[in-house]
Amino acid sequence: MPYPYVLLSAAVSLDGYLDDTGPDRLLLSGPADFDRVDEVRASVDAILVGAGTIRADNPRLLVNSPARRAARVAAGKPEYPLKVAVSGTGELDPAALFWHTGGEKVLLATDAGADRARALGLAADVVALGPGLDWRRLLEHLHDVRGVRRLMVEGGGTIHTQLLQEGLADELQLVLAPLFVGDPDAPRLFGPGGYQGGRLRLTGTRRIEDVVLMTYEPTAPGTGPLPSAADRHWLALACELAAACPPSRTAFSVGAVVVAADGTELARGHSREAGDPVVHAEEAALAGIDRADPRLAGATVYSSLEPCARRSSRPAPCARLILDAGVRRVVTAWREPDTFVTDADGSGLLAAAGADVVVLPEYEERAKAPNDHLLRRTT
Ligand SMILES: NC(=O)c1ccc[n+]([C@@H]2O[C@H](COP(=O)([O-])OP(=O)(O)OC[C@H]3O[C@@H](n4cnc5c(N)ncnc54)[C@H](OP(=O)(O)O)[C@@H]3O)[C@@H](O)[C@H]2O)c1
Ligand SMILES: [Zn+2]
Repeated sequence: MPYPYVLLSAAVSLDGYLDDTGPDRLLLSGPADFDRVDEVRASVDAILVGAGTIRADNPRLLVNSPARRAARVAAGKPEYPLKVAVSGTGELDPAALFWHTGGEKVLLATDAGADRARALGLAADVVALGPGLDWRRLLEHLHDVRGVRRLMVEGGGTIHTQLLQEGLADELQLVLAPLFVGDPDAPRLFGPGGYQGGRLRLTGTRRIEDVVLMTYEPTAPGTGPLPSAADRHWLALACELAAACPPSRTAFSVGAVVVAADGTELARGHSREAGDPVVHAEEAALAGIDRADPRLAGATVYSSLEPCARRSSRPAPCARLILDAGVRRVVTAWREPDTFVTDADGSGLLAAAGADVVVLPEYEERAKAPNDHLLRRTT
């Protein structure tokens, strides 16, 4: 289930357009920013665009700097990142520069689109992903089959909109250009529809000549059993909190964060915090929230270790405390081993009460690291 890290990259006019309606691509930024984009391209395993961008711009999507290409090769990577095109119809020009420049190319398409692309004889590996295009399946394919760990998405708006709305973007790198397009028929960066709630986190701003680069991270938890990119960020924070616990030879080190549906952090906690030798992370975090807070019902608890189902040090285990607080979604990295209690099935307890428990095993190593000494003892 792991996906690549998904970085969306775009430049927009002050009135939110990606391009004008003229035949040539509108240049929104200048040489210094194009060089920055080149550097980002050189840092990723793959660059993805939609079929609309190939039709409108006929882009090459190369790493232009010979020094950056040489550094990739020296690091054992292909000279150019994999180029990925996405299409429903498969209706693409076989003469487009995308297919004839750079390194490896792949078209990820619907079944019908793949048939059409093969008939057109596109110079690319054509992969059919099913009757419709499922972004999670597409990202899994890139991760598992193509070995892509960092994916840069260079548009267009249709693609960016879907990845953000489905909660699959880890980062947005947005360049704001000081000009207006003013044409309602021009393509916009983000279309209408249901975005994951709340505000994004602004993680950086930088002036580059006359444009501004802004970087953002989504914060809204996923919904139900489906993980979002923000789920991964919050679980990573829980793992950091676990690493900061006072050490113990008799209890796990765990970190927990409680996050509202709109991405607002409600509380955080970790094992043995504030001098309490037996307090658990989820218990400590929940203790900091008013039980009447209406956001608890839509909140997610991130816990580096599965919430406990039994404990001797307090009357109620953490799985029970979570349910009693009204929370119905838990994201964790690691199922509790039988180190201190047997049948430690906190996930089972939560699921039986109707809660969604999402396990992200890619964080298991990080969550276990502060507990290595306890795990060695039992194996
Ligand atoms: N300023 C910038 O940073 C920047 C960057 C990139 C692009 N752009 C501009 O953006 C414009 C193009 O944007 P766009 O929104 O029209 O095109 P796009 O996002 O590049 O591509 C949209 C196409 O991708 C395929 N697609 C997307 N989602 C799909 C799904 N769920 N299932 C199946 N197929 C799917 C479809 O291809 P089929 O039609 O083949 O089915 C769809 O028409 C151009 O004007 C370009 O200049 C600007
Ligand atoms: Zn507990």
